[in-house]
Amino acid sequence: MASTPPKLRLRDVSKHFVAPRTGARTLAVANISLDIDSGEFVCIVGPSGCGKSTVLNLIAGLDNATGGTLEKDGQPITGPGPDRGVMFQDYALMPWQNVADNVGFGLRHGTPGKPFTPQQREERIHHFIELVGLSAALKKYPHQLSGGMRQRVALARLLANGPDVLLLDEPLGALDAQTRLILQVELLRIWGETLPREQRKTAVFITHDIEEAVFLADRVVVMSSHPGRVREILPVDLPRPRDESIRGDLRFGHLVEAIWRLIRDEARRAIDDRAAA
Ligand SMILES: Nc1ncnc2c1ncn2[C@@H]1O[C@H](COP(=O)(O)OP(=O)(O)OP(=O)(O)O)[C@@H](O)[C@H]1O
Ligand SMILES: [Mg+2]
Repeated sequence: MASTPPKLRLRDVSKHFVAPRTGARTLAVANISLDIDSGEFVCIVGPSGCGKSTVLNLIAGLDNATGGTLEKDGQPITGPGPDRGVMFQDYALMPWQNVADNVGFGLRHGTPGKPFTPQQREERIHHFIELVGLSAALKKYPHQLSGGMRQRVALARLLANGPDVLLLDEPLGALDAQTRLILQVELLRIWGETLPREQRKTAVFITHDIEEAVFLADRVVVMSSHPGRVREILPVDLPRPRDESIRGDLRFGHLVEAIWRLIRDEARRAIDDRAAA
């Protein structure tokens, strides 16, 4: 019996960058092999500069690997697509458009050969704005919103395009601590925490915050740097749905400590290097 391929499969992936003027090469990541199942929530942590964003951009198809293979549902990833929604730390909203127009951006065409009618488009916009709790702010402009609200808009826009894979690069990194905790719980709900696994989206989430990684993830991938490699993958065996009380669970504390131990020395070295530069 043929088994279903994982949602995402990275095999021996490497990426080097070439400086345009000198031709000097930087090997950003090397030998990255990782399978991510459909419905899984995977967090990637590691010291600054270890190649987390590089890996995410390769999965998004925004950049090409220089070695190895990347597949989604058994098919090679050759470029970006609406099946993979990307979200970054900066909100990337259009300041001259209100919330509804920002969320509707990209919905003008619908799926190829099957454009949305204006009414379908409108319904979709409203549905996703409601999902992120922003119905009251439909007509507001980004400068009228808090950072947390702007990230909700960015999330609604990403979801409106109907991706089955969410690629999130420190999406909560610029927010204050309280907003961040609230959005972590909301993100799990939106990802599909209370749904059966086959109805959940697949999420790859980058963060510097180890507690955030453990709170969200089914597995935490710890990377090491120069070049970026997978150092260790830790399963997070904590029940779902999760709420704040999970942070008091002994297993939660142990995992945070284990991950911190794995990256502490490298993180310290990175700080020293920066201070010396
Ligand atoms: N476009 C580029 N051109 C040249 N070098 C790059 C480029 N993008 C990334 N790099 C280099 O590749 C390495 C990995 O960078 P990347 O941004 O993926 O790290 P990161 O883990 O996301 O870092 P941070 O935690 O600070 O966001 C770094 O050494 C970086 O300088
Ligand atoms: Mg990064």
